[in-house]
Amino acid sequence: MPLAQNVVSLEDMTHESHTGHHHGQGQRHGHDHASGLPEQLDLDAAVFGSYLADVTAWARRLVPASPRTIVDLGAGTGTGSLALAEAFPTAHVVAVDKSTVMLERVRAAAGAAGLGDRVATVQADVDEAWPALGAVDVIWASSSLHEVADPQRVLRDACSALVPGGLMLAVEMDALPRFLPDDVGLGRPGLEARCHEALAQAGWNGYEDWSLPMERAGFDGVERRSFPIRVNPEPTIAVRYAQGFLGRIRSALDGRLSAEDAGALDSLLAGKDPRQLLVRGDLHVVGSRTAWAARRR
Ligand SMILES: C[S@@+](CC[C@H](N)C(=O)[O-])C[C@H]1O[C@@H](n2cnc3c(N)ncnc32)[C@H](O)[C@@H]1O
Repeated sequence: MPLAQNVVSLEDMTHESHTGHHHGQGQRHGHDHASGLPEQLDLDAAVFGSYLADVTAWARRLVPASPRTIVDLGAGTGTGSLALAEAFPTAHVVAVDKSTVMLERVRAAAGAAGLGDRVATVQADVDEAWPALGAVDVIWASSSLHEVADPQRVLRDACSALVPGGLMLAVEMDALPRFLPDDVGLGRPGLEARCHEALAQAGWNGYEDWSLPMERAGFDGVERRSFPIRVNPEPTIAVRYAQGFLGRIRSALDGRLSAEDAGALDSLLAGKDPRQLLVRGDLHVVGSRTAWAARRR
């Protein structure tokens, strides 16, 4: 069964990190750290970090009492690892990633947050094999399950790695982020909505529902929850985030927008236009994540 079709992902937020958006089995992202994914992950955390408090609060109600070992699978720069270490003071968090660049950032961030003694890193490509981590109480996989070559196999491995009753949590971005007011002062109102409609037609709006793959992997009682996010980050951060995303979608929208809408988007992104993003004070950031939780049988 193909698990991944068209996934909205954090890599989509980086410029030119890849060229396609139809991620099926065997067509997953390659990582190009030169493309700025680590920076984008940190920016994502700065913008959307507040949702982590909501997801970890939810996790706290589900997690077995006083977990000792939590694995952050596909940890990236460690936003989740740090949030987990803070939310579960009894736990050691093991950040697993195939990228040494990411893991260096995890170590630096953990050290800076005073959590260096409770956050360890393990470099492993789970497409090759599940690393030897000992007994694990909780596994957290945020925006990473859709990246592995065979999520069903990785879920099975994750299930086997957990102690009986141990908790698996998966999180995915489930909608494109929104930034713009309805009327941006250029062309017809509704530019962003039309961009998203065009992207949906290009297959950008799907995300994977991990419920069934989790059940098949040996998990019981899958709970699924949506976490809407609306934030007003510091304006320069909102602008950087919006520029990154709108710049990324601009090329995907080639030939899919009216000339008027394409021109309006270009004006927003152009450095010299007075209505460009940088001088706007009316950007908000709206996004959404879906999380799944289930226990090992
Ligand atoms: C989009 S990032 C998400 C990072 C972080 N969990 C977050 O939510 O900010 C996905 C991460 O998964 C890692 N990853 C992808 N495939 C992997 C694999 N087969 N084994 C280990 N890590 C993998 C990537 O290197 C990347 O750091």
